[in-house]
Amino acid sequence: MAIAANAATVDCEGPLRSKKRPDELRSHRWLGVSNLRSFGHRSRLLQIGYDREDFAGKPVVGIINTWSDINPCHAHLRTRADEVKRGVWQAGGFPLELPAMSLSENFMKPTTMLYRNLLAMETEELIRSQPIDGVVLLGGCDKTIPGLLMGAISAGVPAIVMPAGPMLRGNWRGGVLGSGSDTWKYWDELRAGRITDDDWHEIEGGIARSFGTCMTMGTAATMMSVAEALGFTLPGASSIPAADSAHARAAGESGRRIVEMIWDDLTPDRILDAAAVDNAITVQQALGGSTNAIIHVLAIARRAGIPLQLERFDEIARRVPLIADVRPSGRFLMEDFYYAGGLRAFLNRLAPFLDLACITVTGRTLGENIAGAQVWNDELIRPLDNPVFSEGGTVVLRGNIAPDGAVMKSSAADPRLLRHRGPALVFESYDEMAAAVEREDLEVTADHVLVLKNAGPQGGPGMPEWGMLPIPLRLVRAGVRDMVRISDARMSGTSYGACILHVAPEAYVGGPFACVQTGDTIEVDVELRRLHLDIDERELARRRAAWVAPARPAVSGYGAIFAAHVSQADSGCDFDVSEIPKTIAEPEIH
Ligand code: FES
Repeated sequence: MAIAANAATVDCEGPLRSKKRPDELRSHRWLGVSNLRSFGHRSRLLQIGYDREDFAGKPVVGIINTWSDINPCHAHLRTRADEVKRGVWQAGGFPLELPAMSLSENFMKPTTMLYRNLLAMETEELIRSQPIDGVVLLGGCDKTIPGLLMGAISAGVPAIVMPAGPMLRGNWRGGVLGSGSDTWKYWDELRAGRITDDDWHEIEGGIARSFGTCMTMGTAATMMSVAEALGFTLPGASSIPAADSAHARAAGESGRRIVEMIWDDLTPDRILDAAAVDNAITVQQALGGSTNAIIHVLAIARRAGIPLQLERFDEIARRVPLIADVRPSGRFLMEDFYYAGGLRAFLNRLAPFLDLACITVTGRTLGENIAGAQVWNDELIRPLDNPVFSEGGTVVLRGNIAPDGAVMKSSAADPRLLRHRGPALVFESYDEMAAAVEREDLEVTADHVLVLKNAGPQGGPGMPEWGMLPIPLRLVRAGVRDMVRISDARMSGTSYGACILHVAPEAYVGGPFACVQTGDTIEVDVELRRLHLDIDERELARRRAAWVAPARPAVSGYGAIFAAHVSQADSGCDFDVSEIPKTIAEPEIH
């Protein structure tokens, strides 16, 4: 049956280099030598109840687990960690589970994006400071895979991602519900008076039916797929539904595989190169993936020392068709995508646009991993000559208010808004916008361009997902469901609409976007990749000279570090100090 064929069944390869000897393992310096410190290390493992046979001469595998009671997308990761451990033991390794910060997209405020870099730092230092030879990275909810991968790349030990996997389809009155997308849709229906409070509460009970990540092509599904396209998961692992038994088996297989990767010294720098990054961007575009992936892929590439500019996403978008008919750009959900063949089949179909020679965690090439994978539903994973859209899902726009770029998921917007000219209605803050859109007397038409400032990396802070600005109430009641919206914020990958995001530089640091005023005319032309404020250049210069920086609240601790070091959206929002190739030496043990 297709389900089994879509899972991780590809044999893994032998060594690319000669195998390491036990005394060449990183952990040997902690556990293998004979001195005062190693006595302490071994005696403390014996204290836990391990025998010397459990660890002597074996690769130590860190299972970095982002499980938490407050992260429903990762509710199964405790069990999955046990399954990874089983695989590690089977292959002759020594597994150690290392809890790490769980970035729960729904609950963390103001945004998990504020903490992605903290998870990356935690991951890097968990590895560096301890006797870890390689890691299995357990995560999936939005910022988790980027944070884990960024940290593991900087740490430089062999790493394999075991994605959390998408939850099952939502269900309401016999119909299908999709994470996020149907939340926004039915919220507007409730605001418009087309469904009742009771309906809304029923939807609340039906939209998230199992553990696992959002099951639309949101940031989680996109980044799990990106991790696989980069070569960091077992073949097909990214699309297995979290509640499918194949998911548990993939966890065990990931545990077995990491042990071999350690002996083979298959480190991230041997997997990640410019071609692998192009593969990831190609997949993001052909899936109609989340705009957030642009920021994360920029950060991941730069961690690996691979130069990557925003323009590359647009270059690839222009030549790659969108062939996954998955919400929010299409109709189906991730469970359906898996039954249609999953990512292996998708990659096989996309093969003409991929570099199949890239090495992956299997030790084999991407081409070998996907060979023979079949598509079982051409409506969902489309043939290249019958795409959902002839170009990729995300475009990069530039203009006088976004000199360093902005992005738009054009595939999820009303096509008539892809070329638009209208008056700006400007909000300086989220609170101002949120109050205004509910006012019955707000002077707004469907032709207006809603503008939200001060929601970027510094202004948010953390660049919250406010970019899908609500349609003003009076327009919702009149049946309007999409209009042009521009912000320096991000938006959820499950969102949709003519939302122009990630405007750089952001308003909060004095980018020209700060100068837009209510009543100005804004032009958007997606075909020309143009975002233009139609005012005289001298007037724009005058406004820039008169711009006064917003008062900055005093921040301490992590907030202060974030404010001092985070980069703009077009650079990936990483910390400037983390992009620099390794500066912290291997710890001395004395
Ligand atoms: Fe966790 Fe969407 S809330 S993936």
